[in-house]
Amino acid sequence: MIKREDKITVALPKGRLFDQSIDIFSKAGLLNEHISQKTRKLIVESENFRFLIVRAKDVPTYVQYGVADIGVAGDDVILEQEPEVYIPLDLNIGVCSIAVAGKPTDREKYFSNPTYLKIATKYPKITKKFFSEKGIRVQVIELYGSVELAPLLGLADFIVDIVETGRTLKENGLEVIEHIRNSSAKLLVNRISFKTRNDEIKKIINNLENYLTKVV
Ligand code: PRP
Repeated sequence: MIKREDKITVALPKGRLFDQSIDIFSKAGLLNEHISQKTRKLIVESENFRFLIVRAKDVPTYVQYGVADIGVAGDDVILEQEPEVYIPLDLNIGVCSIAVAGKPTDREKYFSNPTYLKIATKYPKITKKFFSEKGIRVQVIELYGSVELAPLLGLADFIVDIVETGRTLKENGLEVIEHIRNSSAKLLVNRISFKTRNDEIKKIINNLENYLTKVV
């Protein structure tokens, strides 16, 4: 029986990535119990793991500072924060696209070599880098959610956001104007845990890797 303090701590993002992460841990033979995010508890224990249920954006922080040994975060979050952690594995879940989106009637404006654009986004770093490489000056308006409202209300010309099913854009009369890059969830590992708990963490990585090579 593993003692509570010896369990590997895993920071998982609440929301859509949570269930997919649990599923992949189960299918990789790492987890026998069903772990649900439908609880107000922020720490949920299984026989071998202690799961921290946190905001997606906070996962890299928990892992970098060693409060969690490992975690799961999307490229969108990783690129924005550039955490000092190991990223040994693409989990191939939470696959989506990071894109510029806007009103169909603004498509022409976007492709008419503008020198300046107002962009609303949850991803200021990704946005600035992308437009700076295109030679377009941008004013980034940072929002924390429901970004799709910005072009509809004239707060910004376009948005940079993740697009998974495309439903949110469609239901708000917006469309992808330019694809920036794909994003998928990665396994993050605390650098010190990787050394001090190397056997356990390697086993987790190997199990996940074996499972992923079978399904991909
Ligand atoms: C994300 C993103 C889009 C939506 C895209 O928001 O910011 O709004 O999902 O997904 P879709 O293409 O499948 O419709 P999220 O659901 O994380 O909520 P938020 O706006 O509160 O961040």
